[in-house]
Amino acid sequence: MKKILIRVPATTANLGAGFDTLGLALQLYNDFLIEESDTVEIETYPKNDFLENPDKNLFIQVLKETCKYLGNEFHGVKVKQINNVPVARGLGSSATAIVAGIVAGFFVNQKELTDKDFFAIAYKFEPHPDNLLPAWKGGFITALMEKDQTFYNVINFPEDLKAVVVIPDFELSTEDARKVLPESVSLKDAIFNVQRIALFISALENRRYDLLRVAMEDKLHQPYRKKLIPNFDKVIQNAISSGALGASLSGAGSTILAIANKNFEEIGKSMQSAFSEVGISSQYKILDIDRNGTQIDIINE
Ligand code: HSE
Repeated sequence: MKKILIRVPATTANLGAGFDTLGLALQLYNDFLIEESDTVEIETYPKNDFLENPDKNLFIQVLKETCKYLGNEFHGVKVKQINNVPVARGLGSSATAIVAGIVAGFFVNQKELTDKDFFAIAYKFEPHPDNLLPAWKGGFITALMEKDQTFYNVINFPEDLKAVVVIPDFELSTEDARKVLPESVSLKDAIFNVQRIALFISALENRRYDLLRVAMEDKLHQPYRKKLIPNFDKVIQNAISSGALGASLSGAGSTILAIANKNFEEIGKSMQSAFSEVGISSQYKILDIDRNGTQIDIINE
């Protein structure tokens, strides 16, 4: 029986000042192993009753929508979902399901997937290209959506940098993390971020790692969101004092990201200890950057 394995990377969006703009793919993956079926059958690892409900499962919803978009009837599918990306933690777990659903739909229906098709479907489920694009294309991406068009570009990300992500033991939905944001910000705060995004991208370009700490500061979202993340400032501070080059909230949180070229274990442990101080358990992962994006493999059994 022919099976298709779709592997989609986790992402970390924003990277501090690049709110709703920058996103980076990480070597942590959700796998979707699919085969044809006349009914919908879902198996999840680790087992997740919510995701095993076809009406709730985002991959199934996106696959159905993709078939509809292509003018084909959806008959069913058997899917084994191996989830390594923690849910509702700012690491793009929803984006993995959205990208997998679109890619699966186009592959099964033997249609070439264009950017236009991708965004037409993806935005029905999540309006954040800074998350969707790295999950699909891999690497480090800057993106913006204007009316019905998305403009994006892939930026070089140095080989010697890794992400240390500290994942606290509590979920934070993007919806809740956006509700705390103000409707408007001051010109001063806007300038603060514009200056830092330019500094961040240029510092990566010519390896001026000494600039990354200040370049990853932010005034547009973190000051509001940090109320939802106990000891946020201390986690960031501990990362920097243990040798991280810069640190920020990962996506909409609750994970905190540090960028580093050494001391990876120490950085992870020191960030974890700041969470422990306020009674929050967490795990850390040291991750390389994914540069390939979503991969499809045909498995013949
Ligand atoms: N840029 C978005 C945010 C990513 O921070 O809300 C959410 O997936």
